[in-house]
Amino acid sequence: CGIVGYIGTNDSKSILLHGLEKLEYRGYDSAGIAVLNDDGVNLTKVKGRIANLKKSVDNSVESTMGIGHTRWATHGEPSIINAHPHQSASGQFTIVHNGVIENYQDLKRDYLRDVTFVSETDTEVIVQLIEKLYDKYKDTLQAFREAMGLLKGSYAIGMIDADDSDTLYVSKNKSPLLIGLGDGFNLIASDAMATLKETDQYLEIFDKEIVLVNRNFVEVQKLNGTVVERKPYTAQIDASDIEKGTYPHYMLKEIDEQPIVMRKIIREYQDENNELKLDKSIRSAMQKADRIYIIAAGTSYHAGLVGKDFIEKLAKIPTEVHVASEFSYNMPLLSEKPLFVFISQSGETADSRAVLVKIKELGHPALTMTNVPGSTLSREADYTLHLHAGPEIAVASTKAYTAQIAVLAILATDTAKAKGLELEFELMKELAIVANAMEVLTDQKEEMERLAREYLATTRNAFFIGRSGDYNVSLEAALKLKEISYIQAEGFAGGELKHGTIALIEDGTPVIALSTHENVNYSIRGNVQEVVARGANALIISMKGLEEDTDDFVLPSVHDLLTPLTSVIPMQLLAYYAALHRDCDVDKPRNLAKSVTVE
Ligand code: G6P
Repeated sequence: CGIVGYIGTNDSKSILLHGLEKLEYRGYDSAGIAVLNDDGVNLTKVKGRIANLKKSVDNSVESTMGIGHTRWATHGEPSIINAHPHQSASGQFTIVHNGVIENYQDLKRDYLRDVTFVSETDTEVIVQLIEKLYDKYKDTLQAFREAMGLLKGSYAIGMIDADDSDTLYVSKNKSPLLIGLGDGFNLIASDAMATLKETDQYLEIFDKEIVLVNRNFVEVQKLNGTVVERKPYTAQIDASDIEKGTYPHYMLKEIDEQPIVMRKIIREYQDENNELKLDKSIRSAMQKADRIYIIAAGTSYHAGLVGKDFIEKLAKIPTEVHVASEFSYNMPLLSEKPLFVFISQSGETADSRAVLVKIKELGHPALTMTNVPGSTLSREADYTLHLHAGPEIAVASTKAYTAQIAVLAILATDTAKAKGLELEFELMKELAIVANAMEVLTDQKEEMERLAREYLATTRNAFFIGRSGDYNVSLEAALKLKEISYIQAEGFAGGELKHGTIALIEDGTPVIALSTHENVNYSIRGNVQEVVARGANALIISMKGLEEDTDDFVLPSVHDLLTPLTSVIPMQLLAYYAALHRDCDVDKPRNLAKSVTVE
């Protein structure tokens, strides 16, 4: 979910609506805003997108302060009633919330037995609790503070008191929230992207702090009331980076940006003598580690699988890759000197953060690889490696995946060099070749569109197969297709298909095989024969030099270890065009959110 708030002298509605549009990537099943003026609180809530909310908002209402929310449902189905903002029984307090309150049943039982709840959300418990405590203390700040002390779980909260047109009450724990600072106005936002049009000055807030946001000042307090002094920072994102420009979708723009991102990564991680440039402390943490534990979710997990290959083959450190949500509950036996590497585009994924909190308690070092350096996972880890991919807005990740793989290759190569290991190639030169090859591939959109139509336009399911490094990419290819076209897709190790899943192959079932490694070219083609013999409609994507069939889609040649960086591009484009052919909402697929800040 995403939240935004404004207090100033301009019309709050338009600022809130613009902010929510920029936060839509965080969830988009329902949305709402609440604004305050002399007539009281004016609330508008809708099911669906911000576009619906825009249509429903009463433009004649004037107001200079308000809060807004775009939701990704956790407790309670997407509906107007469950949409935020939520109000207390008397209507005095109105809040927006991102996160999950774990003890909301206990709070209901212990404090709110006599309250009739309108919605099914845990959020309503917070606002009713605040009103209950206000009835006791007759002091909003005290009620707010005490309520925050009682909450267990994750939250980023913005609240309006209908009797106070000068203050937004704000707090957070585990969920992201920033304060935007302006001249005569201030803002709150889950992500600076929402409010960049208004300001580039931001104030970080830490867990369990309480912030009073006024038009002319912002006061940060600890839960016990002690005032905290903190300097603002300048957001580094350029407002133009977050526009689509002439592209029909962010996803296509982001696919096309991959060669530029590769070149940027080369520049950022190389010094004037063309030597790898990496924080010395990261180098030494890698050298000290006897085992690397990569923790990630979704696409980042798939990048981690590729990274394991690099770290083991180049830096010779045993590496495990774990799905974040599983690791917390089923921790493997750890080595003596583990180093944890968190891979996360957003740096906010709650499942990954839960692992970070746990391993920090155990005293282990952590490195976060993220596209958002000020994010929670970056702040809380010992070290950060920046992906330099630029804002990624489409829900389905593309350029962050290739950036993660490139930075993992740099990390592994740097460690190998620091350990004095011989390497038979120069990584940065190879990455430059990759950037050129990516360009060749992003230029072949018409061909990809045709292949998507031929193989995926009407199919019910699809299989991606590969061996070795290609297997890792086939997992990502299947995820991409599932996410945005809703075709049931699976990525399989070429050799494993025949041990069960081949039963699903019918006449016309699309099977897309990757072949970018010489040592598996022969066997993967054998697997393709097996499925073709059973009726599959097979397409082979092979690297130049390995093509055996004139029907192969041929990738430009790149270093054997780095083929995931290029072979994924036709997969991303196939998913994109399949989704277009099927009239799907490419940038905002159903049920998903880009940044999942709940466990
Ligand atoms: C969500 C997104 C995925 C993403 C995953 C991990 O589920 O829908 O596209 O891969 O989170 O996100 P992260 O920001 O941690 O890389």
